[in-house]
Amino acid sequence: MRDLTQDTITDYIAASFASSQSPRHVELMTGLVKCLHGFIREVDLSHSEWAKLLAFFYRVGDKTTETRDEFMLLSDVMGITSLVDLLASTKNPEVTPASPLGPFYLENAPVIQQGGTLCRAGEPGIPLVFKGTVTNEHGVKIENALLDIWHNADSGLYSNEDETQDDMNNRGRIYTDEQGRFTLNTIRPKPYSVPMDGPVGDLLNAFERSPWRSAHLHVVVSAQGYESVITELFFSDCEYIDIDAVGGVRPSLTHEPSYINTERGETLSIDHHFRLRPLSQEPASL
Ligand code: BEZ
Ligand code: FE
Repeated sequence: MRDLTQDTITDYIAASFASSQSPRHVELMTGLVKCLHGFIREVDLSHSEWAKLLAFFYRVGDKTTETRDEFMLLSDVMGITSLVDLLASTKNPEVTPASPLGPFYLENAPVIQQGGTLCRAGEPGIPLVFKGTVTNEHGVKIENALLDIWHNADSGLYSNEDETQDDMNNRGRIYTDEQGRFTLNTIRPKPYSVPMDGPVGDLLNAFERSPWRSAHLHVVVSAQGYESVITELFFSDCEYIDIDAVGGVRPSLTHEPSYINTERGETLSIDHHFRLRPLSQEPASL
């Protein structure tokens, strides 16, 4: 093609991605080319602006290690992670919606028994009883579903950001009983800032964006024969509930704080009903 113009180059490059064994790959790459070219046209991008954007991506790459995923943080603050979650949730409104995983998950948290605790002895903070059920999308209980739960301490820090906490503090896994129920004790999590010591932090600062995440419990729920869900639970009275930095809050994941009396005194209580979708029989498209 010798006579490319700004009106023909997009189709020319998109067509170069028209052949693959996977039709989905063709759809993704041609869609990406069209969308990126559309953005460049819309904002009339200059070479120096493109160079600055690339320099930013190089910094995101340099900051990324095995334990620090700056690209995922970028995806999170750009709302991409949440948009992917929301698209899936719109297709399956009957199951628990997903919400970002975040960077502080650790595998192999201790398995606790019903009524057990996630916290080390004497953990400061507002006591919280977290209980609920796991069912399928029709409300049929699921026995032996596994809930993997983690959250930050009253200081706002996760155990893997704070040398004064045990590795597995405020983390645990629990199996549902024969009625699909679970109950555990922990403390109320605190709002905290997303990591700001990298290029994504510079981006948020440059646009005077709030880095705060609304206080939340992270939960991954899995069960044999069902699709796992990575999600979070929120508290409606948190000051950041309407300005969560990664757009992770969903109405059905947000609880009005209610208090009960226990041997730990006045205790916050959350009762959440998780709904899982049976594993799809369709082969994955990628
Ligand atoms: C978090 O929940 O820990 C988190 C999620 C997304 C970005 C940063 C932190
Ligand atoms: Fe978190």
